[in-house]
Amino acid sequence: MITLVRGFKDILPAETALWQHLEDVARQLFDDFGFAELRIPVLEQTELFARSIGADTDIVEKEMYTFADRSGASLTMRPEATASVVRAYIEHKLYAKDPVWKLYTIGPMFRRERPQKGRYRQFYQINAEVFGLEDPRADAELILLLMTLMGRLELSGIMLHINSLGCAACRPHFKEALRSFLTESTAELCSDCLRRREKNPLRIFDCKVPACKEAMLDAPSILDHLCDQCRSHFETVQASLERFQIPYQTNHRLVRGLDYYTRTAFEVLAEALGAQDAVAGGGRYDSLVKALGGPDQPGIGFAIGVDRLIELLAHQRQGLEKRPHLFIAALGTGAQDRAFGWLQELRMQNVRTEMDFADRSLKAQMRRANKLGAPYVLIVGDRELEEGSAELRNMSTKEQEKVRLQDLVEVVVNKTRN
Ligand code: HAM
Repeated sequence: MITLVRGFKDILPAETALWQHLEDVARQLFDDFGFAELRIPVLEQTELFARSIGADTDIVEKEMYTFADRSGASLTMRPEATASVVRAYIEHKLYAKDPVWKLYTIGPMFRRERPQKGRYRQFYQINAEVFGLEDPRADAELILLLMTLMGRLELSGIMLHINSLGCAACRPHFKEALRSFLTESTAELCSDCLRRREKNPLRIFDCKVPACKEAMLDAPSILDHLCDQCRSHFETVQASLERFQIPYQTNHRLVRGLDYYTRTAFEVLAEALGAQDAVAGGGRYDSLVKALGGPDQPGIGFAIGVDRLIELLAHQRQGLEKRPHLFIAALGTGAQDRAFGWLQELRMQNVRTEMDFADRSLKAQMRRANKLGAPYVLIVGDRELEEGSAELRNMSTKEQEKVRLQDLVEVVVNKTRN
């Protein structure tokens, strides 16, 4: 048997109703917040990710699905969406029409991480990006959108963590302070973190090696090293969250796994998820558009990990399963033929209708209707056809009524709408 590739999965019909529900709620909310959908390709030139996410990140160093195209070009299956959205903003000169754009995109991402619960090699993200707004209220507005979505999905047990990662003016000073702290400390760092200490010491906050975690316990806080502008920006973000009663925790250890962030960074964590507890993450990236060859326009965004969100919502799955409104139990060739016509007619009226093409016994067809969970069954045989009527059975009350064939569609449409 040929099986799935490790780290990849199928999303089976029992689950897809919840995926659709979640996407519907998200699309409606994006609409309310003035976002337009952007659809981007799965493949991009490798350089796009190396230059945006950062060459020293885990994603670029070891997790990308990169291959040489037959032409020799290096291509990569997108590990995230932000880089592609920025590329599209620049490539199509969207900024020339208006620098402010609010865009969302939904789709699969690919990272060759070690598979485990909540961590897949193909996973799905709902991604939001805002360009051209520097005001800290834009940060708050985006977080508000994210938390409103969580609220509409009736998600509980989540916590919003926020931090500021500073800017080109203040972050270098913090990196220096962190480097000296680590050089002076007697704690041993893993070989990766020794390398990170020189190149990108903020990454060490994310290391899972116990010795490194211990070494970072008393690490200085970036929040004590922000420049005046970054501090004031962060204060306004917090004040805005408080104004809209969004609970949050500041967490100076939150550094995010991608290098493009400046100032506000945030994550939504859910304890119930276990080790992979981040349901969503995002932040501001004010230098990225320019770094990728575009105008000097700020950006901010987030991505929700849909697979993880679905896991948290799994208990909501039941009510969403779709059942047919009507099953037609047609007995005999003539009745089967008429039923085939009604099937199409009723479906055109948005009545989910099913029948059994095998023309089995009434008992077998009723069993099938029950299995599908149809609340009504229309029973019709050649004799009923001659009489010009059929029996409509209510499956919960077991009551049956005679329906004239000429009124059939109207009667069924009325019943199933109630
Ligand atoms: P990220 O934190 O790398 O950020 O990913 C966002 C979310 O995607 C995570 O919080 C998690 O829920 C989900 N996720 C990531 N990797 C996996 C995986 N291997 N399996 C399952 N779920 C996963 C970004 O991707 C940024 N582009 C977010 C952003 C948008 N920042 C600004 N704009």
